[in-house]
Amino acid sequence: MKSILFVCLGNICRSPAAEGVMTTLLKKHGITNVLVDSAGTSAYHVGDMADMRMKDHARLRGYELNSLARRFDPMDDFKKFDLILTMDQSNYNNVLRLAPQEELKAKVQRFTDWCKIHEVSEVPDPYSGGAEGFELVMDIIEDGCQQILIKLRD
Ligand code: 4NP
Repeated sequence: MKSILFVCLGNICRSPAAEGVMTTLLKKHGITNVLVDSAGTSAYHVGDMADMRMKDHARLRGYELNSLARRFDPMDDFKKFDLILTMDQSNYNNVLRLAPQEELKAKVQRFTDWCKIHEVSEVPDPYSGGAEGFELVMDIIEDGCQQILIKLRD
């Protein structure tokens, strides 16, 4: 079993979208041995469903976002997941800072390092912006998840 955790700030927009896209792609390709989850570095929205705007933009592309927000748990998550993919620089710094052991930091990568089409270093936080921000999140996430899928199929 391989395992991937997507991490953003609130766990209601970007990381649930990545979880939903990755889960859908894996299912579509009959890959059943990969565990996918998401979490937020903050506790602002713990227990909440994904943001309605994010859910709508994802649904228009065929992805249902069903996760409930939870906070990143350094003790459990660093142990449980092989790969921890953060959405922006702040998430990346925060997750690295929380690593319980130095060698576990190797599990943390920027999500955007997986992208092939989008030459960006962050998935921008869409929370306080408009529809185009949510579309951009979906574009970047589909790009990165497609490349992760290719790697998992190899
Ligand atoms: P996310 O977006 O990190 O992609 O889930 C955000 C959600 C909520 C807030 C910020 C970003 N907030 O400040 O409440």
